[in-house]
Amino acid sequence: MRVLLIGSGGREHALALGLAADPAVSQLVAAPGNPGIASVVLSGGSAGSAAGGRAEVRRVDTTDPTAVAGLAVETGAELVVIGPEAPLVAGAADAVRAKGIACFGPSAAAARLEGSKAFAKEVMAAAGVPTARSRTCTEPGEAARALDEFGPPYVVKDDGLAAGKGVVVTQDRSAALAHAARCGRVVVEEYLAGPEVSLFVVTDGSTAVPLLPAQDFKRIGDGDTGPNTGGMGAYAPLPWLPAGMVDEVMARIVRPTLAELARRDTPFTGLLYAGLALTGAGPKVIEFNCRFGDPETQAVLALLETPLAGLLYAAATGTLAAHPPLRWRDGAAVTVVVAAQGYPATPRTGDVIGGADQPGIVHAGTARRASDGALLSAGGRVLCCTGTGADLAAARAAAYALVDGVELPGAQHRTDIALAAAEGRVRVPVSGTAGRG
Ligand code: AMP
Ligand code: GLY
Repeated sequence: MRVLLIGSGGREHALALGLAADPAVSQLVAAPGNPGIASVVLSGGSAGSAAGGRAEVRRVDTTDPTAVAGLAVETGAELVVIGPEAPLVAGAADAVRAKGIACFGPSAAAARLEGSKAFAKEVMAAAGVPTARSRTCTEPGEAARALDEFGPPYVVKDDGLAAGKGVVVTQDRSAALAHAARCGRVVVEEYLAGPEVSLFVVTDGSTAVPLLPAQDFKRIGDGDTGPNTGGMGAYAPLPWLPAGMVDEVMARIVRPTLAELARRDTPFTGLLYAGLALTGAGPKVIEFNCRFGDPETQAVLALLETPLAGLLYAAATGTLAAHPPLRWRDGAAVTVVVAAQGYPATPRTGDVIGGADQPGIVHAGTARRASDGALLSAGGRVLCCTGTGADLAAARAAAYALVDGVELPGAQHRTDIALAAAEGRVRVPVSGTAGRG
């Protein structure tokens, strides 16, 4: 199978490794890719594959659907996998499918689930899906009234795409108001207390298959301090998750949401990412994303044994019901992000990176220096180090050993990824008298 992968981050490098490990994949082109993806070796690479058994990296404007579809045609792709949200929201999957090529990723209409927080709330209300109570506000007076209605901690979200940085959660009312004023149209909502879960669901619009539940760490600092980021680390699976919780989330949240989108004639195919809080009143949606999460994907795919291309192709072609059940490796995976100095506000780029060429390390924000091929930092999140092991403690040790081998001046990483879970300190609130839902 000839595959075109769109995107350039750590998630895409992890997807590239998964696709390349599938013997069915004979050609893998990534656009725009990154230096890590450029060195991925295909297990099933045929003599005729474009780069002699390696992934090939091409340029493309990922937010231009015509350009993405054109590249799919040019490279003879039989499957296009779109990693990030921006191309999906722009309609890249629609443009690829219009060429008759299978595409893993939702239409622009279905991707609004991530592209507009207000739309997501509307779909959830129609589907009876539990989520935080909210108000969509377009002017400061409205936002102020909503803040007072829900009380602290205040949650204010930019309505549009903001790369994980459009959300402010604060006890400080004036900071919440200032964020609302900066964003214009915002969703103000009730604070949900309880541990967070990222559940990824592969779907062809009717059949839905959950991957292993994961947790990510959004704040920059240890102990969940400092500003939100795109994600500083992740682990899977979740030893503290109550038995039956994935089934409950599928039944009460994922399937009703997919059914509502299908009812609107905008079925969702691709990866539905449910960001959940496990509250005392059961699981509630914090957000939906329309693509694999980053960095949870790096941890989840490290445990997936089922060939990835076959799974994504089944979703893209509406044949997921006939796909065999997923197989997972035993044990756990932990991913620790190595970020640049100054991330998330003003990441410093252009530093030389050492020690990145190790199994388990994927590239996020890196580039090659033209003059000598040296690896340079080129983004906020630079590398993701994933370790696996028999349990979370062993996986943590493996991940942090990789982090210790990385040389990057001024680099930052969290030291507590998966620590509370490894030590049995994550608690799900007990159901209150309010009941569920
Ligand atoms: P989002 O981009 O919606 O995932 O928000 C980023 C992060 O802000 C989430 O992962 C949560 O940690 C936090 N957050 C967002 N909404 C809420 C909420 N209603 N209650 C508590 N925390 C929230
Ligand atoms: N892990 C957070 C995200 O991908 O949005």
